[in-house]
Amino acid sequence: MAQIKVEKAKIDQKQTSLLVIGVFENEQDFSQSKELDPSVLTYIKEAIDNKDFRGTFGTSILVYTLGKGPMKKILALGLGKREKFTDEMARICAGKAAQKARELGTKEFSILQFSNLDEGLIEAMTEGLALALYSFDKYKVVDKDAQKIESVTVLINSDSPRFQMIAERGSHVAEAVNFARDLGNLPPNDCPPAHLASVALLLASEYGMKARVIDRYELENMGMGGIVAVGKGSNNPSKLIILEYNGASSDARPYLLVGKAVTFDTGGISIKPGEKMDEMKFDKCGGCDVLAILRAVASMKLAVNVVGIVPSAENMPSSTSYRPGDIVRMYNGKTVEVLNTDAEGRMILADALAYGIATYNPKAVIDLATLTGAAIIALGSNVAALIGNNKQLTDRVRRMAEKSGERMWDLPLYDEFHEQIKSSYADIKNIGGRPGGAITAAAFLSNFVNGVPWVHMDIAGTAWTQDGTYERSYNPKGATGFGIRTLVKLLMEEEKPQQQASQQQ
Ligand code: BES
Ligand code: MN
Ligand code: ZN
Repeated sequence: MAQIKVEKAKIDQKQTSLLVIGVFENEQDFSQSKELDPSVLTYIKEAIDNKDFRGTFGTSILVYTLGKGPMKKILALGLGKREKFTDEMARICAGKAAQKARELGTKEFSILQFSNLDEGLIEAMTEGLALALYSFDKYKVVDKDAQKIESVTVLINSDSPRFQMIAERGSHVAEAVNFARDLGNLPPNDCPPAHLASVALLLASEYGMKARVIDRYELENMGMGGIVAVGKGSNNPSKLIILEYNGASSDARPYLLVGKAVTFDTGGISIKPGEKMDEMKFDKCGGCDVLAILRAVASMKLAVNVVGIVPSAENMPSSTSYRPGDIVRMYNGKTVEVLNTDAEGRMILADALAYGIATYNPKAVIDLATLTGAAIIALGSNVAALIGNNKQLTDRVRRMAEKSGERMWDLPLYDEFHEQIKSSYADIKNIGGRPGGAITAAAFLSNFVNGVPWVHMDIAGTAWTQDGTYERSYNPKGATGFGIRTLVKLLMEEEKPQQQASQQQ
C-alpha cells in the first residue's frame, strides 16, 4: 500500500511532482492561503481563472507550473460547497485526487489539507487516499507494470504529532480494509474454507494472536450440526476459524465478532438461478471482514480483548448435500428444520454464535453477514441492516457508522417475527417466508445468542459493488470491506475508558 504521511506545509520548499489543492465552490481566491508561496499563488489563480474553474464538486484542472514553483504540476480539485463539506466528502475527494494522480502516472504526490484541520478530516483524507488506490490485480498479467503510487504526503498547518498518529492509525485501518478486499475478491476456486483458515493462522503468527481451526470431523463431534450440514455437499471441507487478540487484561470480557464465510453459495439443492451466481463468491465477505478487524486491532495494539470467529463452508448441490426436509441439531441443542438449503448463512452463524458465547463469555457480540437478499430489498445496495437485541449496542454501532461514512440503519426485531420461523417438526425452521426476510433471519440467529447483547449486520447489499451501488472513489469494483472501519472505531472507543482508568492509577 502507498505510504501516507502528514507533514507541516512548507510549500515553497516542498519538492513534489504533483500538488493537489482542494477548492471550494466559488472560493477560487487563494489569497489567505498561507501555505502557498505568493508567486505560485498568483500563477495558479491566473490559470484557474483562464479555465473557468469554479470548484464545483467533481471537477478538476491540471496546471503545469513550468518552473515557477517547486512542484511540477498542480491539480485543483473541486470540493463543492463549503457548507456541504463533511468528512465523507473529504474521503471521496481525497479518493478522487488519488485516482487522478494515478492516471498521471506519478510515483509520489502531495495534497493540501482540504479544510479546517481536525482529526476527522485527517482520518477521512488518509482513508480516502489509501482506499481509492486499491486495485485487485493478482490475476492480471497486463497491468503488472503500471506505475504504482508509493507515497502521499498530506500537508497540514500544524506540526502536532497528534495528526501523525491519526494518519498512522488511518493507514493501519485502510490496510486492513484492503486486506479484506484482497480476500473477498479471490475467486472461489482459489479460496476454499481451508484457504481462509491458513490466512488466519498466518495472521496469528504475524501479529501474535492465538488461532485455532476446527476441522470437519471435530465439528461433528462437537455437535455443530449447522456448519456440518451446510458443508456436506462440497469436497472442500468446512472450517471453524477462531482468532483471539488479547490487548487488555485477561479478566476483561472480550468482544465477540462473528463473520459468515460461505466461500461460494450456489444455494445447494435449493439451487439459485444462474444469473449473477458468480457474485456469490462474495458470500465470504463477512468472514473476511472479521479477519481484517482482528488484523487492524492487533496492528494498532489496541488495549481490548477481541475474539473473531469465522464459520466457513461451501454450499454446493451434490449427492451428499443437506436437503430441504432435513432436521439438524445445532451446537446449543436446538433443532432446525431445513426448508431451503439456500438459507445456509444462518445455519453456520448460529453454531458459531452459540459456540463463541458459551466459550468466551463475551460482553457483546456483533456478526457480519451477507445474509439476505431481503436486506437489499429493504434498504438498497448502499445501506446495511442492523438488527439486534440491545438498543444501546445498536445505537453505538450506528453512531460509529455515522463517523465512518458507512451507512447502516436498524430494523426492528419484534417478538412477532418469531411466529414466522416456528416449525411443525422441529424447534424452528430456517426460513420465514418473504415478508420481513432480513428480520426473520435475525430472529433465527437470536435463538443462539442466549440473551447476550448482540447486533447482526446484514451486509448483503454493501459487501461488494453491485447493481445499485453508488460510485465512490474510494470503493473500487469488487469487495468493499464494508463494516470494518465502523467496528474498528467502536473498538478504539472501547479502549479509551481503560486508558483513562490506567492513567488514574
Ligand atoms: N448469500 C445469500 C444472500 C444474498 C443474496 C446476498 C444476494 C447478496 C446478494 C443467502 O445465503 C441467501 O441465499 N439467502 C436467501 C434466503 C432465503 C432462501 C430465505 C435469500 O435472500 O434469497
Ligand atoms: Mn444462500
Ligand atoms: Zn449465502
